[in-house]
Amino acid sequence: MSVEIKEVSGTAGLQEIALLADEIWHECFVGIISSGQIDYMVEKFQSFRAMTEQTEQQGYKYLAVRDDGELCGYIGIKPETDDRLFLSKLYLRKDKRGHGTASLMLGRVFEEAGKIGKKRVYLTVNKHNVHAVDVYVRKGFVQTAEAVTDIGGGYVMDDFIMEYTL
Ligand SMILES: CC(C)(COP(=O)(O)OP(=O)(O)OC[C@H]1O[C@@H](n2cnc3c(N)ncnc32)[C@H](O)[C@@H]1OP(=O)(O)O)[C@@H](O)C(=O)NCCC(=O)NCCS
Repeated sequence: MSVEIKEVSGTAGLQEIALLADEIWHECFVGIISSGQIDYMVEKFQSFRAMTEQTEQQGYKYLAVRDDGELCGYIGIKPETDDRLFLSKLYLRKDKRGHGTASLMLGRVFEEAGKIGKKRVYLTVNKHNVHAVDVYVRKGFVQTAEAVTDIGGGYVMDDFIMEYTL
């Protein structure tokens, strides 16, 4: 395994991430949210159109994770105006999980935060996404709040907010 994490630039890069996001979301959220909500959230947050808007207008940055050159995961981050970096996305294809790659990915997120002078990294995670919560706790995140967010379409996100201090 040779993992490389690199910033995504250009249309082709985001298109590739959008395809992977569609695949991962339709696997990992089954049993956590409804299939209707998965479709809705992929379109709203992870489609090529949505990610183009995020990167061009909202300050998001996407990083591609490749193992031996093959795209297998991605990270989405956004600096806030205070001392925090928002970790918006941390996704790895199922067959690549369980090998410590998320630790490398989180290490890179902390590095990105440090580079721009941020002191904290925060994220939202579905309350029923037990494995992700366990990983975040293991890597030093603490739960700071809970949030139920109306995302339209008759759907809500039922999340923990977690934070890591650099
Ligand atoms: C969340 C996700 C990126 C984690 O990746 P992963 O490959 O499963 O996790 P890793 O094997 O890299 O483990 C990362 C760390 O957590 C630890 N860990 C893994 N499972 C754990 C568990 N059940 N309890 C405690 N620690 C655990 C590992 O030991 C490792 O720590 P270390 O490197 O310090 O030893 C991955 O499971 C994923 O993409 N899931 C689906 C999408 C998702 O839910 N994303 C998060 C949305 S908020």
